Amino acid sequence: MLKTATRHELTLLAAGQPWLPALLLAGRLVKPMRKVPGLGWFVADPLVARQIYNDSAHFSIVSEGAAGHWWAQVVGEWVEDLFEGPGHTALRNKVRDLFTATHTDALVADTIGPALKQISVDLAAGRTVDIAERSRVLVGRSVSDLVGMEPADIAAIFADSADPSAFEDPDEPFRVLFTHVEELVNLAMGTMASTTLDPVAVERARTLAGKLATSVPAAYERADGTTTLGRCRELGLELEHASGLAILMAVAGTDTLASAMTRMVALLHDSGEQRALLAAPERTPDAVRETLRVTSPAYLVGRSVTADVEVAGRQLKAGEHVKILTWSINNAVGDFRVARDYVPETRQLWFGGGRHLCLGAQLVHSELGALLEAITADGREWEIVERKYKRNVFIPTYSTLKIRLAG
Ligand code: HEM
Repeated sequence: MLKTATRHELTLLAAGQPWLPALLLAGRLVKPMRKVPGLGWFVADPLVARQIYNDSAHFSIVSEGAAGHWWAQVVGEWVEDLFEGPGHTALRNKVRDLFTATHTDALVADTIGPALKQISVDLAAGRTVDIAERSRVLVGRSVSDLVGMEPADIAAIFADSADPSAFEDPDEPFRVLFTHVEELVNLAMGTMASTTLDPVAVERARTLAGKLATSVPAAYERADGTTTLGRCRELGLELEHASGLAILMAVAGTDTLASAMTRMVALLHDSGEQRALLAAPERTPDAVRETLRVTSPAYLVGRSVTADVEVAGRQLKAGEHVKILTWSINNAVGDFRVARDYVPETRQLWFGGGRHLCLGAQLVHSELGALLEAITADGREWEIVERKYKRNVFIPTYSTLKIRLAG
């Protein structure tokens, strides 16, 4: 019989995209890789995955079948030069220190510190808190930093998509921003067979991305080094690239992060592991790492083969696609355990690997750690009062996860 935590995770994946649990579970049997006609090579072995991530001579992130191909259609063809080859090396060198732990901790305190404090206060007072809704607002606040939008900017830019009176609620601008990015991310639905968007989707994606970049030029000029755009400028990134990177960071780090936040709180509850964490709060970074491993919100990472190559004894041909089953690889390690020590084999595979390892990884750790500290501040266990899985989304998650502290 399935354990409670696994059952909820699989139901959540199925609500997001009905075929997903079957694919990810079947993926565990793919050792180390297997070709599926019409789709390409599926990889479910950590060493083979890492080999592919590290081989930029034969695998591309910007050709058909990989994320960068999708990004280029949405934000511009410059992605092809900036996310592969010497341009990418230069970009990563420039932004190497964009998200150091010191900076991300300060950024988190600044952008979501007060909202996290309010969660602690509400829980301690016996109030029910919807973690799914809070996560959307927390991530919306974080995105407002990435794209340089103050609440007033959001209210002006999105005046047509929300009732003006709704903006009286100080959280509303961040909800609106989150929903906007979510619509953009969901345009990636259906990219399993091909990452080429149809003309209608391209037009919509460009409109959404353009709107998201509205405040970047002004924020880039005025922002100081406590903001991400200010840091991009100080690190020597020119405006066009800072603008494109801001959109990509928003796209890469909105649904994935909100999903990890909400599922972390559910997983700790459903597995009973919250007791282990409350007994040993110094294990918070381990709980965060376990969350990322078990949820693996970027459940599948694509690459295209650019030159014939042999991998794990198989002959891969130029033009074929590769899909690294991140979720399957990471979940093969076992159930969620706060006391599980670092597993070298799966090291950060939830963030990809090689040159394209997630740029926002440290920010993710800081945000998830800070949320967990807010929820465990009172030292009491929580119970789930209500949960709903979100339907038809690219990154599966909860639409509602109401919790309250046990009496
Ligand atoms: C739990 C949340 C997140 C997960 C699971 C995640 C996962 C990933 C993965 C798997 C990749 C590699 C994609 C590939 O190789 O094709 C990636 C790349 C990237 N991520 Fe994240 N990400 C998260 C949050 C964020 C955040 C918050 C940001 C920015 C603030 C961010 C920015 C990026 C960028 C810019 C890249 C591309 C890096 C490059 O190609 O050099 N991500 N992420």
